[in-house]
Amino acid sequence: MADITTKYCGLDLKNPFIVGSSGLTSGVDSINRLAKSGAAAVVLKSVFEEEILLEYKQTFKNQLGSQEANLEFFDYYDYQLKGEMLENTTELINRVKESNDIPVIASINCRSSAEWFSYAKNLEKAGADAIELNIHRVVDSVDESAAVITEKYLNIVQKVKKHVTIPVAVKMSPFFADTAHMASQFEKAGADALVMFNRYYSPDIDLENNKLISAPVYSNPGDYTLPLRWISLLSGKLKTDIAASTGIHSPESMIKMLVAGASAVQIVSALYKNGPDYLLDFSHYLEEWMDKKGFDTLKDIREYGRTMIPSNSEMFERVQFMKYFGKRC
Ligand SMILES: Cc1cc2nc3c(=O)[nH]c(=O)nc-3n(C[C@H](O)[C@H](O)[C@H](O)COP(=O)(O)O)c2cc1C
Repeated sequence: MADITTKYCGLDLKNPFIVGSSGLTSGVDSINRLAKSGAAAVVLKSVFEEEILLEYKQTFKNQLGSQEANLEFFDYYDYQLKGEMLENTTELINRVKESNDIPVIASINCRSSAEWFSYAKNLEKAGADAIELNIHRVVDSVDESAAVITEKYLNIVQKVKKHVTIPVAVKMSPFFADTAHMASQFEKAGADALVMFNRYYSPDIDLENNKLISAPVYSNPGDYTLPLRWISLLSGKLKTDIAASTGIHSPESMIKMLVAGASAVQIVSALYKNGPDYLLDFSHYLEEWMDKKGFDTLKDIREYGRTMIPSNSEMFERVQFMKYFGKRC
């Protein structure tokens, strides 16, 4: 029988299937259900930076006077924060750990380099096994360059790493001009793992009712090809672990991510659509496929994948592009 254990972000996992941050991971009953169906770890629903700051402001309301809006103070006071949000997260982590032996990854959705991030320390104290940073900025300023934005991203990772001893994963955007360089910069900043990629909320327009609405929140089965490309391009160049995320709707796309070099996969939309037991299909399919191929471990799968990577990937991609899109009729 194939060994499907893996190591990801400093954690020993019984299989590579992680349930990604979402409503599915916001409550103990749902997490217990996912664990029963074989989830190897869960990334909790994100705590949003804005929520942390709101709690901070409420806690210190009228105490800081004109400094109330000065986030520099946050670092000095954050260890005293005992707000409802932290209590809820601590309780959730404790209850999940009481009933299961799966690692719990806490998630922070953040955008600024303000001094809020030692909140991560509190999540560590609450019992989280690792932290996932979802650094999310939609920059519409025409004056802010990529260099400035990058600096802020890296600053967040470095500062969180300074405050915690548990491993830290960075959930990356797929929209950097220099995706490969950014991945390497995150690694240098101390990221223990990279999640490729985040899938952002997108707005849409309701023409009938004249208002902005949310575009579909669930991914599509074809979306897996974007992370697949980058994981196959970068897994051999980075030391840090990679979790594949976005568009993994079938056992086949899950296996392709492992072939490309991912140590684990994060699944969300497919579990919303098919229910928690879909995870059982994933593990059965993986074990059967590995047996059929004669692979004993996930490392064998990654080595098999390396034999398929062309030596000049950029040229390969351009040639493929010309082959399929270069025809003039
Ligand atoms: C309903 C819903 C809620 C989500 N909430 C979060 C969140 O709080 N934090 C986060 O980092 N990602 C969140 N995500 C994004 C998922 O973690 C994941 O990155 C995205 O859905 C792509 O994976 P998928 O193709 O398997 O769905 C959410 C996704 C959905 C569908």
